[in-house]
Amino acid sequence: MHSSCQKTILVTGGAGFLGSHLCDRLLREGHKVISLDNFHTGSRLNHRHQASNPDFELIEADVADPLPDLRIDEIYHLACPASPPHYQESPVTTLRTSLLGTLNALNLAMQTGARILLASTSEVYGDPLVHPQREDYWGNVNSFGERACYDEGKRAAEALFHAHAAERGVDIRIARIFNTYGPRMQPDDGRVVSNFVVEALQGLPITIYGDGSQTRSFCYVDDLVEGLVRLMASDVRTPVNLGNPGEFSVSELAAMVVAMTGSQSSISHLPLPSDDPRRRRPDISKAQLLLDWKPAFSLEAGLGPTIAYFRDVVSSQDRPSLQPVA
Ligand SMILES: NC(=O)c1ccc[n+]([C@@H]2O[C@H](COP(=O)([O-])OP(=O)(O)OC[C@H]3O[C@@H](n4cnc5c(N)ncnc54)[C@H](O)[C@@H]3O)[C@@H](O)[C@H]2O)c1
Repeated sequence: MHSSCQKTILVTGGAGFLGSHLCDRLLREGHKVISLDNFHTGSRLNHRHQASNPDFELIEADVADPLPDLRIDEIYHLACPASPPHYQESPVTTLRTSLLGTLNALNLAMQTGARILLASTSEVYGDPLVHPQREDYWGNVNSFGERACYDEGKRAAEALFHAHAAERGVDIRIARIFNTYGPRMQPDDGRVVSNFVVEALQGLPITIYGDGSQTRSFCYVDDLVEGLVRLMASDVRTPVNLGNPGEFSVSELAAMVVAMTGSQSSISHLPLPSDDPRRRRPDISKAQLLLDWKPAFSLEAGLGPTIAYFRDVVSSQDRPSLQPVA
């Protein structure tokens, strides 16, 4: 489709889990999509099915380096490692990406007059002292801990967005994304859904950190992408939570994964990592009210395609995690 409302849209981090699904969605809507990615945690495989689409372009670049001069209508700024093992591997790189990458993306938005959306995170709430978390909660974050490179990087990115809107008139949107899962997550990225599903499919013990009573919310990727697109199209210039308010303990998730995979896996326990939040659940009333958005997928409905994806990955040599990283 090439309609008069066709936009040219930059997705930084487009080769990642969320970015590649977002590129799919934007291409389906008939837009021109440019993915800018350095394959730090993303995979070329995530773009394989898009490569022959004339509306799709890939720029291999580090968002923290000076960016090419692009004429674009919108920027979805997603580039940043998202899982703890990845962002803790090199905290300096993570902070560089969050700080310089966000500054570069905002400068590009300013130069080209593009609207820009930040993929922020529930981690800006840290280990929250109020529950569930609303957007007006300021958070309980350790600036000197192992998660600080990510949490404080994203908080600074939000502050950079706010400052560029206030001082330079950049048209900003901020999504605070809560734990999202689905096909194309990396099998070894250390997030709880991918960990459990891969362990269950391999018949390995399912590793629960702590006693498993800590809770998480799980949003299916299609729901999240719908929320991002609605937020971008809205006139909401303040942070908006996007996530699934259904709250499950980690033990409940493990039991569901074992049942749905038909696995014989046992459950093993390891100590809880430091700064691991006890409870996490979004209050999404702002998104419901202002974007008319709420998740449509139950955890069971989303786990189905996720398990099917990982079944293929586990049984195939063509594993995304084994791809050479640029
Ligand atoms: N998945 C979630 O549950 C979740 C939750 C909250 C926030 N987010 C945010 O959403 C965004 C995407 O997350 P994801 O789950 O798809 O993670 P991901 O690791 O799969 O994707 C991140 C992408 O950014 C790219 N990237 C990293 N550093 C870069 C750099 N310096 N230059 C260019 N590209 C770079 C990676 O190669 C990868 O393709 C991230 O900003 C993350 O913080 C995700």
